[in-house]
Amino acid sequence: MDVLGIETSCDETAAAVVRDGREVISNVVYTQIPLHQPYGGVVPEIASRAHVEKIGQVVRAALSGAPRKVDAVAVTYGPGLSPALIVGLNAAKGLAKALRVPLIGINHIEAHLHTPFIYDSTDDETAHVPDPREMGPVLGLAVSGGNTVWVDMPEYGRYEVVGETLDDAAGEAFDKASKMLGLGYPGGLKIDRISKAYRDAVAAGAVPFPRDEAFVPFPKGRPREGVSALAGLPAELCVSFSGLKTALLRHVQRHPELLESTQTACDFGGYSVSPDVARVVASYQEAIVMAIADRTRSALRRRRCSALLLGGGVSLNSRIREALSRVCEEMGARLMMAKPKYTGDNGAMVAGLAFYRRNHVEDAMSLDASPSLRVGE
Ligand code: KG4
Repeated sequence: MDVLGIETSCDETAAAVVRDGREVISNVVYTQIPLHQPYGGVVPEIASRAHVEKIGQVVRAALSGAPRKVDAVAVTYGPGLSPALIVGLNAAKGLAKALRVPLIGINHIEAHLHTPFIYDSTDDETAHVPDPREMGPVLGLAVSGGNTVWVDMPEYGRYEVVGETLDDAAGEAFDKASKMLGLGYPGGLKIDRISKAYRDAVAAGAVPFPRDEAFVPFPKGRPREGVSALAGLPAELCVSFSGLKTALLRHVQRHPELLESTQTACDFGGYSVSPDVARVVASYQEAIVMAIADRTRSALRRRRCSALLLGGGVSLNSRIREALSRVCEEMGARLMMAKPKYTGDNGAMVAGLAFYRRNHVEDAMSLDASPSLRVGE
């Protein structure tokens, strides 16, 4: 079964054709990052206009890479930016009607959790990608610019949120810090690279700080038990990054010299920053990574899961991958990560998941965009 998947929930206009839920036949992503960069974040009106301009071209390119007529059209209908979701949804409805095939509505976060299962002909380990229905209970972790959520899947296609962020998503926390430190938008990849180079320099004794002061002790993002924002979820499975963000702001205010151009800059991971800035960046990343690793360990401890499915833009972070592989090893779970090219938003994850949800098509033509759609709804 070949499915065309369309994704326009945020700042990527994407379409792909996927066979039988896992094999990517074509995958086209147009990223709008350069359009939003001058504003330091995604501007919904600009996103929506760019989706309108690009969607036809992107879908045509995805379809032209497919050898036969598709059997269904799938589309992200939430969560995401309403004016952006509407563009993909309307295009998908029109295409499904014109091609006389079913339309399948897909949850964006659930789609991110499907990414560890997708591959294409350039991936050498294709034979080892298991069928998700044969895996038994698994834990999913979606970490992206808009979401940080832990999901229990007793069987594939059944989702229960067991933990999440109470405020910012991990990607948002990275992007806001990057802006605060004058590193630009988006910040995740830069912070990742600077932090890695800084950690290597610490290990080599090549930083101008005493060993016990090599990292700033930032708060680790654990919410207090009983706060109302938990809405019934256990604090040990949730994160809150607002305190961490405030701690960074206070640190920058206490050390205004950090942002002064008179500081001696060095090369950290290809970026020219001072050792002081690199120290703050690496410490901030470490706080986020340790919070995520700690909550994941607690989630795996609560229920025996055969695997951890990891997806979303932030799952590309090298330190998160390292920390979670250690946690999984400790807990006896298999770590299944999205391949780097499928960590950001894409249509392949939408088309792939649709194969497993192909019975959910009854009312898809009357679907509306659902900006706050929850996992499992
Ligand atoms: O999944 P995605 O493309 O969009 C959403 O669905 O939100 O994720 C984008 C987010 C941005 O916040 C970006 O800074 C972050 O992923 N990101 C990273 C890395 N690469 C991208 N965060 C940490 N480390 C990275 N290497």
